[in-house]
Amino acid sequence: MIDFHSHFLPKIDDGSKSCEMSVEMLKASADYGIKTMVATPHFYIYKNEAERFEQKRAKAYEELLTYIKNNNISGLPDIILGAEVYYFRGMTHYEGLNKLKIGSTNYMLLEMPFEKWSERVLDDVWELKKELEIIPVIAHIDRYIDLQKGTENIERLFGMDIPIQMNAEFVNGFFSRGKALKLIKDGHVRLLGSDCHNMDKRKPNLGACLQIIEKKCGTKTVENIYGYSRQLLGL
Ligand SMILES: [Fe+2]
Repeated sequence: MIDFHSHFLPKIDDGSKSCEMSVEMLKASADYGIKTMVATPHFYIYKNEAERFEQKRAKAYEELLTYIKNNNISGLPDIILGAEVYYFRGMTHYEGLNKLKIGSTNYMLLEMPFEKWSERVLDDVWELKKELEIIPVIAHIDRYIDLQKGTENIERLFGMDIPIQMNAEFVNGFFSRGKALKLIKDGHVRLLGSDCHNMDKRKPNLGACLQIIEKKCGTKTVENIYGYSRQLLGL
């Protein structure tokens, strides 16, 4: 399986605080059968330009690879570099977005605003896909659902036919599970992520999630999610 959303790169955002912690996170993920982790450190336009972000990310990645090599650690998932880009006004005119795409794909993980989305926000998402050919992958759809209540915003997003990622915790949580599985069964959600930040409160948690999906929706559903994730990444 592929974890599409994670913060295991060391000391670049509010995720992993050290190479040791990063390796623990990668090991835990490997134990769940995760073959590939997409590293998606937070990108906020008010904190960094894309170029500076790219440099910091490369440094964190190099440091981690050196640590792994020096300690002879093997059996970890493959790593693909990306970013979790927080929506900002004017992003459709920002050339730096090209540096924030996932690996060598045209996909970019997009974190939507934590408020009711305006017409403008949805127009921008559509424009990214249509005009710029940077296809947004909507990060953790589960975290916006309540905020968009009383609007058609979630349905409109689904109608754009763009990839939607959901966090494992939505499946794992007893009270949200029904909603989460329905989103998968209805074909709206086809990508999963742990959104792991550490080994404590926000640790890698795709293992339990995959077991639940397999039990409730069948092996084929898990295979389809894996197949779609690989296809997006060109693997
Ligand atoms: Fe995240």
